[in-house]
Amino acid sequence: MNDTRGLGIELARILVTYGTKHGSTAEIATRIGQRITAAGFDTDTLQANLGIDISKYDALVVGSPIYAGQWLPESTLLFAVHRERVSDKPTALFSVGMIDVKHPGKLREEHDAWIEKAFTEEEIQLNIVSTATFRGAYSRRNLPTWLRMIDYILRIAPQGDHRQWDEIERWGDEVAITLRRVLDPNYGDETECS
Ligand SMILES: Cc1cc2nc3c(=O)[nH]c(=O)nc-3n(C[C@H](O)[C@H](O)[C@H](O)COP(=O)(O)O)c2cc1C
Repeated sequence: MNDTRGLGIELARILVTYGTKHGSTAEIATRIGQRITAAGFDTDTLQANLGIDISKYDALVVGSPIYAGQWLPESTLLFAVHRERVSDKPTALFSVGMIDVKHPGKLREEHDAWIEKAFTEEEIQLNIVSTATFRGAYSRRNLPTWLRMIDYILRIAPQGDHRQWDEIERWGDEVAITLRRVLDPNYGDETECS
């Protein structure tokens, strides 16, 4: 079916899990999960919840939108709850936010600061193999009325869907290659022999 047959990779299970309030991160996670599946992995894409059995998976891709400089609690909690089980698993992290639209590079700063703070405070060790930040989608209509009025006056964030699907897909493909390399000790042998 694909070129991963015989390497054991088709048996590797990958969890793509995410937090979301308004759905834009869910769609990004779904697209990433599709790319990893297309690379030959057995992939589940699930909204982060404490019922997820992390022990079933060989590697994790975890993402969250950033709200007020922080990940949504369910994505961080997942690591805290499964503290002992996550430290060895190859893990890729992504953050989604709007700050980059006005201030390019700032989303990466927010992501790095949050990961550093959250995981240091919680004493969570992760085997991070890749990270990414993506522009998200924002609509004033999702805000509570009082905040909607403030946002209307101050124009806090640009409206609209700013997701860059090419970038998201490229990262999904890169993560699949990275996971193949770290999960399959024989990876590369077939190219060296041919
Ligand atoms: C109240 C509020 C606070 C936000 N705070 C940030 C922020 O600190 N940094 C950022 O880059 N984006 C911020 N955003 C933008 C969201 O991260 C972005 O809209 C994201 O795509 C939402 O994801 P979701 O649709 O999965 O909930 C904020 C949006 C709202 C409504």
